[in-house]
Amino acid sequence: MSDRKVIALTVNGEQRELALAPNRSLLDALRTEAGLTGTKKGCDVGECGSCTILMNGKPVNACLVLALEAEGAEIITVEGLQAPDGTPHRLQECFMRCGAAQCGFCTPGILVAAKALLGETPRPTTDQIRFAIAGNICRCTGYTKIIDAIAMASAEVQR
Ligand code: FES
Ligand code: FES
Repeated sequence: MSDRKVIALTVNGEQRELALAPNRSLLDALRTEAGLTGTKKGCDVGECGSCTILMNGKPVNACLVLALEAEGAEIITVEGLQAPDGTPHRLQECFMRCGAAQCGFCTPGILVAAKALLGETPRPTTDQIRFAIAGNICRCTGYTKIIDAIAMASAEVQR
């Protein structure tokens, strides 16, 4: 399409160029043009957190960012959490061990929000964990197992 603009950005450590319409959200660009469907679209208006990604190290709702604003940015999506050999990130491991996912729709966004938390606060309190995922709605778990899993991952990093 002639009105598309090409942007260059880094996604999960890989240089990408994406041709995008000016009104494309970063969420849609990641899911469609970049083919990374791990990031979920729940509300598309900034209320559910299922689209949480890291943009230059900070958690953001990708549905609220115009893709063109991501020119030159470093993006991490849930697909970028695991090691190159496919070994799950310790957060993913702890989510599995704690049974912190039921339908799993909220899980990618919460994992990314939790990664940002542990990056800044390796040993968070329960309140800090609650605050970090306050923008992420889970309709299934009641949050207890999610908080347990994040706490477990933080304890493991101390070893
Ligand atoms: S899809 Fe972005 S906050 Fe809900
Ligand atoms: S596990 Fe279903 S919405 Fe959270």
